[in-house]
Formats: sequence, structure tokens, C-alpha cells
Amino acid sequence: MEKLCVELGERSYPIAIGKSADWMPLLAEKLAGRRALIVTDENVDAAGHLEALEKALADAGYSDFQSLILPPGEEHKSLATVELIAEAAVNAKLDRRSVMVALSGGVVGDLTGFAAAVYMRGIDFIQLPTTLLAAVDSSVGGKTGADLAAGKNLVGAFHQPKLVAMDVNTLDTLPPREWRNGLAEVVKYGMIMDAGFFAMLQSEIPRLNNCDPALYSQVILHCCKCKAEVVAGDEQEKGRRAILNYGHTVGHAVEKLSNFTLPHGMAVAIGMAVAVRLAVRMRKCLRRVEDQQNSLLYALGLPVSLPKNSNVNNIIQAMKSDKKNSSGGITMVLPTDIGKVEIVRGVDEKLLAEALENCL
Ligand code: NAD
Ligand code: GLY
Repeated sequence: MEKLCVELGERSYPIAIGKSADWMPLLAEKLAGRRALIVTDENVDAAGHLEALEKALADAGYSDFQSLILPPGEEHKSLATVELIAEAAVNAKLDRRSVMVALSGGVVGDLTGFAAAVYMRGIDFIQLPTTLLAAVDSSVGGKTGADLAAGKNLVGAFHQPKLVAMDVNTLDTLPPREWRNGLAEVVKYGMIMDAGFFAMLQSEIPRLNNCDPALYSQVILHCCKCKAEVVAGDEQEKGRRAILNYGHTVGHAVEKLSNFTLPHGMAVAIGMAVAVRLAVRMRKCLRRVEDQQNSLLYALGLPVSLPKNSNVNNIIQAMKSDKKNSSGGITMVLPTDIGKVEIVRGVDEKLLAEALENCL
């Protein structure tokens, strides 16, 4: 088992990566003497992961929990679902010492973290990610929340988990589309902060596409190290943490405009393609950077152009309701080289429209 720490003073927490048998004692220790609500979704349950967790907890001598199974999908990432979780917590008699446990991908993880942030003004929660995307990104860093009709993640809270523990074997049941989805966020780390990691991804395309378990454990560990370092330096996104939003300003807009038929990672891949196009247009980076990024995304089965029938004006309007903006207009993260990005405020809308047109 590999173990890391997100260094946040009194809010520091471990990330354990390996087989569940390796970290189950740590989980049982965190839950001992406290009541828990395990929150998951129907697909994770159908894949047998809830039953496996419940059995492992019982074997470890812990049984003071109830489980809640939610319908899957971004369309359920709403305040109504947060209310469902809070009501389940009341029914399960969770008190201020109790714990919520998210056994899931990023949707249920974000929702459960937010429910834990507001239930009885804040209780502890634990992330057990079951998708590649959640393993490399959403389970770490304490961003929690739900979507509103006006946009993604418009309500939320920073609420750090007490533990992130991932059983890499749970990823075996992920549908291929969900693998690719997670790979978009993996490529993101190479683009924003690590040219060496980007080069490693370029050289390992066949193993990445074949879901090689040894390579994935290494990739997850590396991405968690990158994220832990950024979060430790800027927990509440006052500055550098914003680099993690690379590809997300356009990504969130196209995800929402697709009525969430386009999954998050695919939308982020498109967002990265638009961002690098704009960066080339603004002479912030060379055309070579665009070619390298887009070739890697393409080779990993990710989209690098906007969905058919996209309307550029609608995308720009949706981008304007993004919470990453400031009064100065649209904010975007733009690459200056492989492994290097810049945060640009007040993006020129004409150039942005051109970059979007180029990606149609
Ligand atoms: P998801 O949670 O919807 O999971 C994707 C699909 O895989 C779902 O259908 C789910 O039921 C299924 N699934 C999950 N685990 C499975 C398994 N082991 N076997 C079979 N099926 C499984 O989506 P996601 O891609 O994990 O997360 C996307 C969400 O994460 C978005 O809402 C996004 O905004 C959020 N996010 C948050 C952060 C953050 O920092 N909090 C970062 C990135 C993304
Ligand atoms: N996924 C963006 C962040 O955690 O800051």
C-alpha cells in the first residue's frame, strides 16, 4: 500500500492507495465508536462494491453503520439529493461525532462531502473513490458541492475529508468510457505542472488504453501527489490552486449545455483543447504544445473538438456564469508550455470566440 499525506495542519489527512485489505484497519480505526452513513450509487452497488465494503467492515469488527444508495449521474448532483442524504443521516441517528463515507465517483463524493459539511453544522467524512476521476482528482482537496440550474458546483463548501482510501481493484468494473473520463484529468496534471509526467504518458499510451493495473496504481499515486502538493499550498483557491481548473471553464459550460450527457472528463478534454488553441492564438505558447496535448488526448480516446451543433455564443454565455470568474470577466487557465500554465483574467471574448470556432 502507498500512503501520502495532504499537509493542512490540523486538517491534514492520509491518502491510502492499494487493496482494501491493506487500509481496512485504518478505516475501521477512524470509524471506531462512531456511527456512520455509507453513501454510494446504484452502479457502484450493482458492481458489488458496497457489499464488499460492508463485509470487510463487519470482518474488521465494525457494524454501527447504515447505507444509502442514490441514483447515479450528474443530473442528480442537486440540493434535493443533499437533502436526501441529510434525511438519511437523521434516520440513521447520526450525531455530531458521526461520519459520512462516500463510496463512489465524483458525483456522490462531492454531494456526500457537502452534506457532511452542513449536517449539524459539519461532521467528518471519508472518501473511498471508485472511479479513476475520483481517485486522481475529486476525492482529494475538500471541494464539495452540488449543481444549480444556472451552473455546475454553484453551491458548495471546502470541507476536507478525514481519510481518502482507494481500492484500485474497484476500478476493474469501470465501463471503458469512465476510464477515458478519468484520463482527461490525468493529462491535465501533465499539462499544468509536470512535463516529465506528460512525457511518461506519451510513452505509455498502449498500457494506458489497456488499463494496465500496475501502471494505473503508479499514475494514481503521482496525480494524488501533485494534487496534495497544490492543495497544501493553497487550500481555498486564493491563488495557485486555480491551475487545477485547466480545461474546466469551457468544460463546465459544454457539460451543462449537453444536459450532462457529456461526462465531466470528456468536457474537460474539450476545454483543454479550446484553452490551448486560445493560448496559441494569444502567442502564449507554441503550436507544438497544442499538437502534443491534442495528440495525447486523441490517442487516449478523448475528444478535442466541440460537440456537433455547438453554438459559440451559448458557450460563452454559459462560461460567464462560471464561479471561477471575477468582476473582470472570464478567467481561464492557459498553457505557456507543456507542464506550465498561467491564470488569465478578463479573457478577450473575440479571441475566445475565434478559438471556440476553430474547435468546432
Ligand atoms: P460519477 O460519480 O458520475 O461516476 C461515473 C459513472 O461511473 C457513474 O455512472 C457511476 O455510477 C459509475 N461508477 C462509479 N464507480 C464505479 C465502479 N467502480 N464500477 C462501475 N461503475 C462505477 O462521475 P466521476 O467522473 O467519478 O466524477 C465526476 C464529478 O466529479 C463531476 O460532478 C465533477 O464536477 C466532480 N469533480 C469534483 C472535483 C473536486 O475537486 N471535488 C474534481 C473533479 C471533478
Ligand atoms: N478540481 C479542482 C480543484 O480541486 O481545485
